Amino acid sequence: MTPRPPAQLIDRFGRVVDYLRISITDRCDFRCVYCMAEDMTFLPRTQILSLEEIYSIAQAFVELGVKKIRITGGEPLVRKDALSLLKNIGQLDGLNELVLTTNGSQLDTMSAELKAAGVKRINISLDSLNAEKFKRLTRTGDLQQVLNGIQAAKSTGFERLKINAVVLKNQNHEEVGDLVQFAVDNGIDISFIEEMPLGVVKQHDRGVAYYSSQLIKQDLAQRFTLIASPEKTGGPSNYFTVADTNTRVGFISPHSENFCSTCNRVRLTVEGRLLLCLGNEHSVDLKAVLREHPNNTAVLKQTIINAMQIKPEKHEFNVHEQPVILRYMNMTGG
Ligand code: GTP
Ligand code: 5AD
Ligand code: SF4
Repeated sequence: MTPRPPAQLIDRFGRVVDYLRISITDRCDFRCVYCMAEDMTFLPRTQILSLEEIYSIAQAFVELGVKKIRITGGEPLVRKDALSLLKNIGQLDGLNELVLTTNGSQLDTMSAELKAAGVKRINISLDSLNAEKFKRLTRTGDLQQVLNGIQAAKSTGFERLKINAVVLKNQNHEEVGDLVQFAVDNGIDISFIEEMPLGVVKQHDRGVAYYSSQLIKQDLAQRFTLIASPEKTGGPSNYFTVADTNTRVGFISPHSENFCSTCNRVRLTVEGRLLLCLGNEHSVDLKAVLREHPNNTAVLKQTIINAMQIKPEKHEFNVHEQPVILRYMNMTGG
């Protein structure tokens, strides 16, 4: 292996960026109520990066010191040839971790190939264990298909599996204990996420549906003993372990516990926008750079280095106002 170059992606606040999240499609087979509107228009093929372009950008980032790449969507596994891209990215010299965030709908058939492609850990969205509620929250999802997918991923033997649950008051907040029990029974981890106001959703009022991590912790304390854990995965979760188990419970609390001061990540959208912060619109058009200067890695890398200068200090989410960011979560995969 070649020795690691010194960190080159550093922003104005001294934060080192070593984690890239790549959305490889804005499309999804689900329509989760917190993520999308019911009738979505997706990007035309001409506007999105090719798999070769995504690979070139991933390669440039790894050469600039990125150690962790997470593939997201929409639902990444609905993009044709996602596996070949994963395999190529997984072989990049210098990358420590290739990980995936998915809704789980394709895992029953794709788990083994994902492992073979080099995916180390998988985060799977699961907001409810009740088939009807699951359908209400995802609009088009089938709970049993996702549960089968989780079992398939378990048998495949990834380093770790994690459930992600977005918690909405009076929609699934009563289930947080059952979801932790599910994680414990399956020997996997779980993170609870406070909903973020990205894009206009009509199904609920985000101010009314807000359910803080603090409330979830109080609810869980009635059934479990949570022990604070110093473990970090390079993501925004604060972890606890469930006493006497291997399960970690994470809390992603963009509202109640801002984690921006330790931010180490940037995002690539499938349109080729390098987005410097999930909660802001500061971005650089890498697709334009790639197409104007084909095969010119030096220009691409310098553009990425320069982009760090416009990384915002933090997000300013407010669930009680109309969203300032009109982009839906499917553009960035979280
Ligand atoms: P691990 O590597 O397992 O820690 O994963 P992760 O938490 O980094 O990634 P995942 O895709 O599971 O994201 C879970 C949730 O965290 C999603 O809802 C993301 O939107 C949210 N999240 C991840 N990074 C950020 C961030 O930089 N800012 C904000 N506001 N939310 C984030
Ligand atoms: N707020 C918080 N999390 C969201 N996700 C999708 N939309 C939102 C939102 N508005 C979550 C998904 C998935 C992760 C990548 O992002 O549930 O687990
Ligand atoms: Fe980083 Fe922006 Fe997320 Fe804050 S909101 S953690 S700065 S990406």
